[in-house]
Amino acid sequence: MAVVFGGRSPEHGISCVSAGSVLAALDPDQYEVVPVGISRAGQWVLTGGDSSQLAITDRRLPEVTAESGTAVVLNADPSSGGLLVLDPAEGSRALADVDVVFPVLHGAYGEDGTIQGMLEMAGIPYVGANVFASAAAMDKEFTKKLCAAEEIPVGPYAVLRSGMTLTEQDKQRLGLPVFVKPSRAGSSFGITRVTDWADLDDAVANARKIDPKVLVESAVIGREIECGVLEAEAGGVPEASALAEVRVVGDYDFYDFEAKYIDADAACEYDIPADLPERVTRQVQEYAVRAFTALDCAGLARADFFVTPELDVYLNEVNTMPGFTPTSMFPRMWAASGLEYQKLVNRLIRTALN
Ligand code: DAL
Ligand code: MG
Repeated sequence: MAVVFGGRSPEHGISCVSAGSVLAALDPDQYEVVPVGISRAGQWVLTGGDSSQLAITDRRLPEVTAESGTAVVLNADPSSGGLLVLDPAEGSRALADVDVVFPVLHGAYGEDGTIQGMLEMAGIPYVGANVFASAAAMDKEFTKKLCAAEEIPVGPYAVLRSGMTLTEQDKQRLGLPVFVKPSRAGSSFGITRVTDWADLDDAVANARKIDPKVLVESAVIGREIECGVLEAEAGGVPEASALAEVRVVGDYDFYDFEAKYIDADAACEYDIPADLPERVTRQVQEYAVRAFTALDCAGLARADFFVTPELDVYLNEVNTMPGFTPTSMFPRMWAASGLEYQKLVNRLIRTALN
């Protein structure tokens, strides 16, 4: 089994931390693990897979470089139905033959359907969403459109395609504050909370460093509630986890990158299960499963919501490869639902192979 991590997206380091946790959970008696890192420049390397190297230390995120291991290329092997990891420096000697891939990749070129397309072409099973669902969930515009079509409430927003600016009508419709986001990004990269229209252009320019398409969303005043979803093992309706509430404490504007990962211990408080009336919990879980189905997800997803003081529920977004770091909500929500980390990872691999 190959665990693929790092990659070309701004979430490179988070992917490494997620992969460190996944690698540590894999039972060596059960799997022959092939840890494949992708550098920020896109070089694939076979690494030693030392999970202790894949952690945040001194506020620094780990990184795959071309020097982190042996440079490799991957090649489909139709005779075995697997994927060969080849060493081009040694006459393309096969270093490993892989039956299933766990792409522990977040963001572009990993969570967006691109690696999924490569694996589909090679005929290799993999953990998680297929090409379409990955692409649709990566793009916040299409997540909202597909989920709204299934009557899942989403907050007011405007899409600014490349070169477009927000109209006066849209400013009035959305009101302040707004969140300005790259349409395709994760881990809060490129997001700004805008409380004065004079700051909008800078916020849009900042988001456009990541994606030319930008979303401007009305800030939904409410609590941040998350829900994990897993594909049902025996087919049928996907399963929803216990809910998590994330509260950002201290000097943070919102649940941004620093609060999420670098200062998570001090900056965030978590309630799992979230303290919500039973009816609201069930509503969130029902929307999470509906969103999973609306986007045609497979394997796993984490759906993020806002719950207003009036207890109205709005979908924020869906992540098809949610964080698996030690502070990440997805594994913690499943642990609170009776599926601890190692069982969760095993289940994801079994689902991929079914
Ligand atoms: N994009 C990050 C990894 C998450 O959704 O958890
Ligand atoms: Mg996300």
